[in-house]
Amino acid sequence: MRETRVTLADEAATSRLGRQLAARARAGDVILLEGPLGAGKSTLARAFIRALAGDERLAVPSPTFTLVQVYETPRGEVWHYDLWRLEGPEGLAELGWDEALEGGIVLVEWPGRLGKLAPDRALRLTLGMTETGREAVLWGEERWGDGL
Ligand SMILES: Nc1ncnc2c1ncn2[C@@H]1O[C@H](COP(=O)(O)OP(=O)(O)O)[C@@H](O)[C@H]1O
Ligand SMILES: [Mg+2]
Repeated sequence: MRETRVTLADEAATSRLGRQLAARARAGDVILLEGPLGAGKSTLARAFIRALAGDERLAVPSPTFTLVQVYETPRGEVWHYDLWRLEGPEGLAELGWDEALEGGIVLVEWPGRLGKLAPDRALRLTLGMTETGREAVLWGEERWGDGL
C-alpha cells in the first residue's frame, strides 16, 4: 500500500484506528506496531482486540512482562506481543511464534526485536508523538490501504 498518514488528535482517535484495522483483520494477519514508549501502541492494540472480541470491557493488559497474551475471539485467536524485554529472536519459539503465524491474528509491539524473523507480509504501523497528539504512518501489505 502507499504510505498513509493518519492524525490522531486524542486517545479516542487512536482507539478508532485500532477498531478500523480490526474490522478488516483476518487469520494470518501480522501488524507490526512501532513507536516510542507512550506513543499509544498498547492503546491501539487494546481497541483492536476488544473489537475482535466483541467486548468493549475486555481486560487487555500490556504484555510487558508476560511478553505475549493470547485472546480467543469469534474472529480467531489474537496474539498480542510486547517484545521490549525479549533477549533475542531465539526466545520467540517459546512464545508460540510459529503457532501464532500459522493462523492467528498477530500484533507486535517493539517489532525491531524480531530481526530477520519479521514477516514480509505484515502491515507496518509507526506511531509518533506530535505536539498535540499522535500521528500514525502505515505501509506494507496492499489490501490494508483502502479507506484508511
Ligand atoms: N492520539 C493520542 N493523543 C494523545 N494521547 C494519546 C493518544 N493515543 C494514546 N494516548 C495516550 O498515550 C499513552 C499511550 O500509552 P500506551 O498505549 O501504553 O503506549 P505504548 O504501548 O506505545 O507504550 C496513554 O496514556 C494514552 O492515553
Ligand atoms: Mg505498550
